[in-house]
Amino acid sequence: MDVLSGGIPIVYRTVIRPALFRLPPENAQRLAESALRIGPLWRLARPALAGFNARLRTEFAGLVVPSPIGAAAGLDKDCKFLGSLLDLGFGFATGGTVTLGPRPGNPRPRLARQTRSEALVNAMGFPGAGLESASERLSKLTRRAGRLFVSISGTIEDEIIQCHRRLEPLCSLVEINISSPNTGGLRAFHEPGRLRALTQSLASGKRRPLFVKLPPWERGRESRAIGLSLAETAVDAGADGVIVANTRPVEYVGMALGRGGMSGLPLYDDTLRMVAETRAALGKRGAIVACGGVFTASQLWRLLAVGASAAQLYTALVYRGPGLPGSINRGLVRLMEKADCKSIVDIEGAPPS
Ligand SMILES: Cc1cc2nc3c(=O)[nH]c(=O)nc-3n(C[C@H](O)[C@H](O)[C@H](O)COP(=O)(O)O)c2cc1C
Repeated sequence: MDVLSGGIPIVYRTVIRPALFRLPPENAQRLAESALRIGPLWRLARPALAGFNARLRTEFAGLVVPSPIGAAAGLDKDCKFLGSLLDLGFGFATGGTVTLGPRPGNPRPRLARQTRSEALVNAMGFPGAGLESASERLSKLTRRAGRLFVSISGTIEDEIIQCHRRLEPLCSLVEINISSPNTGGLRAFHEPGRLRALTQSLASGKRRPLFVKLPPWERGRESRAIGLSLAETAVDAGADGVIVANTRPVEYVGMALGRGGMSGLPLYDDTLRMVAETRAALGKRGAIVACGGVFTASQLWRLLAVGASAAQLYTALVYRGPGLPGSINRGLVRLMEKADCKSIVDIEGAPPS
């Protein structure tokens, strides 16, 4: 077992990743997705890979998950391999972002690697097969529905409401994505009045926790006030929590659009700052799921220490491979043992590891 869990990161770094990175990013992505769709392979590997441990089990927004590290939206846009992501050791996995109709996404190139800094820039613009296809796939996964999140979006309220109505019964938590920098129209929901009305209408009859995924905000009083006003608006309007945050908007000549969203390691310090600021603004209200630049167990520890209940990742999986969730799980258990923390909630307020 240990040979597999220890060997996979080495094989990924020395053999698989160099081969994948020779391909254009979207082709490499498609190949990785094909591998993740071989469900029985990952089910077999799960005992060696996943690294689950009773100490990692935690609860937020009324959900119990076996680990506080989850797979972020965008990894499995069409909900084709969420079960495999759980088998890798993610405590929960997010499907989507699902939109009402099928969408081709933005023109290519729309995905680039920045290998030295372990970052990606994307301007995908929600390519996907749409609501019908996602709901069909999710309805076959209900056995694992306790750990499946779904991200939904749209450019008008009615699209989002229809996605919510259809997908809520098929998952355990719904994220509203108002923050992709690559999709025209989403900025409308950065207007607090519009976000409040949308959140209230979704929250009024909700049967599953509802989270809002926020856009990132920069250092400085003015930006902070804008970012935090969205967090407070969402929670006051009935959301159970917020995801902090989406990719960082950047100008990028390598994208057909000339701009995109940066993800990966360079985001981490900002994620830590934004989570701490959000916790200070919300007090005890609402759960915070951190997202942006999480690669290691000690990074996860610090996010939990400043008030996150859990975290999600995407880019680290591209750079570190399928052994990553398990190695974060095992690393977090070691840190907890060292600090004598019996459960994840004990980490809040703990000193940095
Ligand atoms: C190629 C790509 C596609 C993404 N698609 C989505 C998406 O559809 N919906 C969404 O909410 N976030 C999407 N994201 C953002 C991630 O969920 C996450 O917020 C961001 O990448 C920061 O986390 P990371 O540094 O761990 O990657 C995407 C990110 C990447 C790299």
